[in-house]
Amino acid sequence: FFSLKMAKPAVYVTREINKEALDILNQSCTVSSWAGSGPVPRAELLKNIENKSGLFCLLSDKIDSEILNKAGPNLKVIATMSVGYDHLDVQEIKKRGIKMAYTPDILTDATAELAVALLLATSRRLLESNEEARTGGWQAWSPFWMCGPGLKGSTVGIVGFGRIGQEIAKRLKPFGPKKIIYYNRSEKRQEAQEIGATKVSFEELLAESDFISVSCSLTPETKEMFNEAAFKKMKKTAIFVNTSRGGVVDQDDLVRALESKTIWAAGLDVMTPEPLPLDHPLFKLKNCVILPHIGSACIETRNEMAVLTAKNIVQALEDEPMITELVV
Ligand code: DGY
Repeated sequence: FFSLKMAKPAVYVTREINKEALDILNQSCTVSSWAGSGPVPRAELLKNIENKSGLFCLLSDKIDSEILNKAGPNLKVIATMSVGYDHLDVQEIKKRGIKMAYTPDILTDATAELAVALLLATSRRLLESNEEARTGGWQAWSPFWMCGPGLKGSTVGIVGFGRIGQEIAKRLKPFGPKKIIYYNRSEKRQEAQEIGATKVSFEELLAESDFISVSCSLTPETKEMFNEAAFKKMKKTAIFVNTSRGGVVDQDDLVRALESKTIWAAGLDVMTPEPLPLDHPLFKLKNCVILPHIGSACIETRNEMAVLTAKNIVQALEDEPMITELVV
């Protein structure tokens, strides 16, 4: 007898990743990766996806029918190193019987932590204060200078009361808000009860909240739900914080709301587009804190996200159930 050595399935990785994740892939796959700085150029992805069995991608890679056509029938699995999947054309992928995986849960704590940091940076004007201190604006201790609203006794509104929204609420609770309210498609009765949060309508949340933290996913229903009409319903003193996706906000309306002081301030970890162009009006506003989409950027978290993505690919290629399959 002679043994038939099966060729290892080919996997394309769209960015340089950690050794631990790469080692997992290398054990059972032939791996090629984009090694340039920044996201893989579209043309490069189109060229490299041909005949691959697996794709390890990021939220900066748009995976649509053009990519899928180029990949051809060998493509069995697409795993994204993110919990959000609005960059994947899930219907097209599903239609072709290609499996999908994502990285829920493991980034929940890191993202909730960042949301709280961003909320406080915005309400307590940390970046603006730092700028003043460094550039001579700090003349003397002044009673009403660089003040911002406090969380104690406030109403906190969470939009999107999934895993991340709930963890944000839990982390904000020790600051002593009077009330935590949430708006979510479905009622999360038990979780809300444990946290002490109440479900309200979107309109109620807008009108009552002193702090609004957004953690819903981007879907056709949530697209630009924060528009002129929504900002007008908010309190003039409201702090708006978005750590979900830029697409849930009508950004031009947000600029106007901040310029006209329709709302007090915004803290954004996500924008449209990303990166936000340097000449964008949001960068000119003192009442807007902008972070470069770092919600899950804890060292341990990002390592785990890559490892989970690699494991999902290996499992799928071995016809084993994936750890975190994305089922839509
Ligand atoms: C995600 O995973 O979708 C976040 O936006 C980045 O970690």
